[in-house]
Amino acid sequence: MAQYDVIVIGAGPGGYVSAIRCAQLGLKTAVVEGRDTLGGTCLNVGCIPSKALLHASHQLHEAEHNFAAMGLKGKSPSVDWTQMKAYKSDVVGQNTKGIEFLFKKNKIDWLKGWGSIPAAGQVKVGNEVHDAKNIIIASGSEPSSVPGAEVTIDEKIVVTSTGALELPKIPKKLAVIGAGVIGLELGSVYARLGSEVQVIEFLDHITPGMDGDVQKSFLKLLKKQGLNFTLGAAVSKVEASKTKAKVTYKLRKDDSEHQIDADVVLVATGRKPFTDGLGLEALGVEMSPRGQIKTDSQWRTNVPGIYAIGDAIDGPMLAHKAEDEGMAAAEVIAGKHGHVNYEVIPGVIYTAPEVASVGKTEEQLKEEGRAYKVGKFSFMGNARAKAVFQGDGFVKLLADKDTDRVLGCHIIGPGAGDLIHEICVGMEFGASAEDIALTCHAHPTFSEAVREAALACGDGAIHM
Ligand code: NAI
Repeated sequence: MAQYDVIVIGAGPGGYVSAIRCAQLGLKTAVVEGRDTLGGTCLNVGCIPSKALLHASHQLHEAEHNFAAMGLKGKSPSVDWTQMKAYKSDVVGQNTKGIEFLFKKNKIDWLKGWGSIPAAGQVKVGNEVHDAKNIIIASGSEPSSVPGAEVTIDEKIVVTSTGALELPKIPKKLAVIGAGVIGLELGSVYARLGSEVQVIEFLDHITPGMDGDVQKSFLKLLKKQGLNFTLGAAVSKVEASKTKAKVTYKLRKDDSEHQIDADVVLVATGRKPFTDGLGLEALGVEMSPRGQIKTDSQWRTNVPGIYAIGDAIDGPMLAHKAEDEGMAAAEVIAGKHGHVNYEVIPGVIYTAPEVASVGKTEEQLKEEGRAYKVGKFSFMGNARAKAVFQGDGFVKLLADKDTDRVLGCHIIGPGAGDLIHEICVGMEFGASAEDIALTCHAHPTFSEAVREAALACGDGAIHM
């Protein structure tokens, strides 16, 4: 029986980052992980493999749509799906092994198996009980099913994101339930690979929570790329045979019932915290009605010595939010000051074009009754974007009307997921739109569009 300062349960981005920070701060640390490889959902069956498929399918799109215009002639590449999946697995393998290396480097023990907490200060893995002065629960989340609908997920015909990354062949017809991040990223992949994609979404718009202008523009661009949308429709049933499925949905405007057939149905209607088997009920750990572990502002649960972070607690289910909480909880345990600024957590959708967002949306500012100004700049006015056929989209910067302080930014366009961080840093430093506008931006870069949006908050953008 080993004695640790900290045992982290779960080796996803929240857990493994937390463990590394604990070790760096001099704490004897172990991580419990039951998967065969480290990295959790994100590295094994989430962010990383999906980005590999998004990259590969985007290259195909470029070859089919833009190569000839640049004078690159020849037959378009054909898709070897088995090889594409092998490439994806290789990317995953490199990343998960990288974490094993980091664990060794930082002298972190990997306790292999699924852990439970028989009592505060103890973590049980298999038949062994380990002592831990502190426990950090970073057990993540799992796909939730379609609320109020009859759906059985078999991960073959009716799949979550996990099954969608491992389909034996590219489906002719793919039905996607839910126009959130997962539905649109994976829907894009299969649309580019030749599937006929039908997205069915309960709301009248896509990507709930995003800025309205981005939602509208994104929908238009996705339609142009061949994805089909049925909005305002609640899926009530998915019936699967061995080779096909039938999706039944009701249009909310008139309650009429409709059906579509598909070879594969992707259920992408959200995720829920995964805390099964930890023994939290017996320990008396307080939970929210939505199954999240309740914590205070320092990630402490109501049971002394037990902390929780990431998808298992409140807040956006994002790897980077979990990482930040993991590092901050480690700092708190080490007696330092741990802090996460929940006002500045970017969100990115890795489609082409990318979509990225931070801070308040225009709708939120209206609801708060806050006086604001909008600076908007189209990538059509950005020379670099036009040169690489990526003039679709815009940067929208929101700033306080009186103080000019940046309140939010919403980007749809090339490199949006990287561009947004200029604004994140700016917001952390309390930047005004003028601060961004007065900062020299290299020409020709996509980042000039951000500066132009900031200029548009003042005396006006130059190239518009
Ligand atoms: P989501 O919450 O983003 O979207 C789910 C969608 O399903 C919503 O638009 C909802 O209105 C719709 N829906 C619910 N019930 C329905 C019904 N009966 N019929 C039709 N539509 C229905 O969930 P998603 O896409 O599954 O993602 C789960 C989590 O994973 C999210 O928190 C997301 O942020 C995270 N994630 C983040 C990624 C990123 O940062 N790039 C990538 C993948 C996932």
